[in-house]
Amino acid sequence: MMTNSSPRILGIGGGTRPGSSAERYLQLALSAAEKAGATTTFLGAHSLRLPLYEPSAAADGAAQQLVEELRRADGIIIASPGYHGTVSGFMKNALDYAEETRSDKRPYFSERAVGCMAVAGGWQAAVGTMASLREIVHALRGWPTPMGVAINIAEAPLDPAGTCQSTSVIQQIQLMASQVVEFANLSTHRQL
Ligand SMILES: Cc1cc2nc3c(=O)[nH]c(=O)nc-3n(C[C@H](O)[C@H](O)[C@H](O)COP(=O)(O)O)c2cc1C
Repeated sequence: MMTNSSPRILGIGGGTRPGSSAERYLQLALSAAEKAGATTTFLGAHSLRLPLYEPSAAADGAAQQLVEELRRADGIIIASPGYHGTVSGFMKNALDYAEETRSDKRPYFSERAVGCMAVAGGWQAAVGTMASLREIVHALRGWPTPMGVAINIAEAPLDPAGTCQSTSVIQQIQLMASQVVEFANLSTHRQL
């Protein structure tokens, strides 16, 4: 049962392609986080169509929503498609908005566990993108979960209902999501 003290997990990700598999995999991860006791917020491609980040410009509209959700989150899950071997520009731009929290008491992703997921057409880009996401999370002072999920869409396609047929990928997503929730539950700094 959800309570007021359920950790808030923010999901950020997806691609601009209609039916983006990264976005659908992110939704599966948020469902797993809910089963682990969290409340979740989903910011997919629709919410992340943001202007190119400019450090001197004030964030407003959807950008402001992203920044506020980052501030509120007790844990974060990020999903990016692999573009040309790494994180898509669309996703990197969204993550750059974390800079708006630099002067906060809890800046960037500090004190939060961050689950990283990458979806690509082959293993090389899937694994490389997942490693790049972890590098970004380190730079943002977050705690990448021990389990990250690299998905080769050729081996783990989603059916039209968004269901994944790969038991192994489902188990990895469940473990990653439960680690994000577990870390949030352990945090003594959780904003209740
Ligand atoms: C611009 C672009 C670049 C891509 N580059 C790669 C790549 O380097 N390696 C790879 O395995 N797949 C690559 N892909 C395929 C995507 O990673 C794959 O289609 C993935 O499922 C995309 O996620 P989406 O379904 O969320 O759009 C690329 C796709 C696009 C559109």
